[in-house]
Amino acid sequence: MWRPKERIKHVAQPGNWPTRETAAASALFQPIKVGALTLNDRTWVPAMVPWRATDDGYVTPHVLDWYRRFAEGRPGAIVVEATGIRDIPSGPLLRIGDDRFLPGLRELVDTVQMASGGYTRLFIQIIDFLSIRRRPDPQRFLQEFLEITVEHRLRLEMDADAAEADVRARLLAIDDDQLIRVLTPRQWEAMHYGARERVTDMQLPHIRDLPKQLPDLFAAAAVRAQQAGFDGVELHYAHAYTMASFLSALNTRDDGYGGDLPGRLRLPLEVFGRVRHEVGNDYPVGCRMLTEDCIDDGTAVDDAAEFAKQFAAAGMDFISLSRGGKFEDAKQPKVGQAAYPYTGPSGYECMPSYYSDARGPFGRNLSPAKRVRGRIRAAGHVTPVVAVGGIHNFDQAQSVLANGEGDIVGLARQALADPDWFEKVRSGRGEQVRLCLYTNYCEALDQRHREVTCELWDREDLDEAGIAKSKDGKRRLLAPAWRR
Ligand SMILES: Cc1cc2nc3c(=O)[nH]c(=O)nc-3n(C[C@H](O)[C@H](O)[C@H](O)COP(=O)(O)O)c2cc1C
Ligand code: SF4
Repeated sequence: MWRPKERIKHVAQPGNWPTRETAAASALFQPIKVGALTLNDRTWVPAMVPWRATDDGYVTPHVLDWYRRFAEGRPGAIVVEATGIRDIPSGPLLRIGDDRFLPGLRELVDTVQMASGGYTRLFIQIIDFLSIRRRPDPQRFLQEFLEITVEHRLRLEMDADAAEADVRARLLAIDDDQLIRVLTPRQWEAMHYGARERVTDMQLPHIRDLPKQLPDLFAAAAVRAQQAGFDGVELHYAHAYTMASFLSALNTRDDGYGGDLPGRLRLPLEVFGRVRHEVGNDYPVGCRMLTEDCIDDGTAVDDAAEFAKQFAAAGMDFISLSRGGKFEDAKQPKVGQAAYPYTGPSGYECMPSYYSDARGPFGRNLSPAKRVRGRIRAAGHVTPVVAVGGIHNFDQAQSVLANGEGDIVGLARQALADPDWFEKVRSGRGEQVRLCLYTNYCEALDQRHREVTCELWDREDLDEAGIAKSKDGKRRLLAPAWRR
């Protein structure tokens, strides 16, 4: 993963843990309305993919265990990992693109309700993403995958009707300095990074038609979430995926769904409108979006504030803020692997690790979040904002609320390091919290599509009877029980 060159080491601090009474009286542990729903407190576990679904997207016993473990800590809300809205193979990521996924998702809802004693509200993040291929072997790319065109022949100074085999032979014979002039930038990228679709690929009918298809796909998925018993849905409008790409300043589509701010907002608003129409006014629907793309020429916070204001005006029930996490600056993958959107500077902004710059990894998104929230409030909307990023102690969480940086406080990696954080802090036993190191060991597992665990507990008590272990048997899959 990319890191700021300063490499200043930052260590998570416990701060002042509250007594049970102080916690009970604190802003963090007061209820809050999210649309028609009330959260019992203002803590939130944002979406985190743990790589525990089946290869065809079903809930497994390991998925149930994973969310049960978070629910035992009784946060105010948990958001289930990014779950695919299409009925297409997408590896071991949860899916909600067909009714056959409903029984597993219902069991997931029941599991969380039971484990939290009905305390924790459960949302599900629903996502669409475009296709990305693995980085090919360069020889095979030139020999087999590259579509040979007249332009290649002309740039190679060959006859316009030269045999394809001869063109490929020439391409294989020239060096990179020449090749970069013969291939188009997208072909060069496909060869060195793996081909990746963009929302601006208007020559591809399925991309051109995204505005026709996505509102119905998102709406059908949201209806299934409602049928499965989730308390609400989070539309994934963040990071490197389809909807965030529509919002991005890099979206230059010329069909009314790109370019200026109204164009870039159009599909996200249409998707929300269709979802709202199908699930009704009382069903909580919000989105996860970026305060900033954190890439060259990407969306900046002022545009994001405008998007958030318009989402609030359209009737979204919450807005959860993240930042970065883009493909545009991702590291070149190894041959045979796909590019991963959290490996460049924008990925660092999304999940900053402990070696950082002077700003450090804690609360990097809070001042942009304050601007976004400020714009929503200035327009007269009360829509709650979820602030996330390096939050690990009670003082930080309280100051997010006091400073107007958010109305709800999200803890992702800290909740993974210690799913009992919420119960420990609430019960005045914060000193027992296992603080996250922010090394991103978990994130590296995610990147390799391996079961996500935390280095602070995954080797602990490996001989404990009945525990589930990773496929290689070397790691436990769940945090050990809290021995009070
Ligand atoms: C293993 C892992 C998986 C993640 N998966 C998702 C995801 O499915 N959807 C999403 O919006 N963010 C995802 N994130 C980002 C987190 O929700 C969160 O925004 C980020 O980790 C920063 O918060 P933190 O500093 O509290 O960890 C993931 C993070 C991690 C560590
Ligand atoms: S592996 Fe654990 S300690 Fe390390 S960053 Fe992830 S949650 Fe934090």
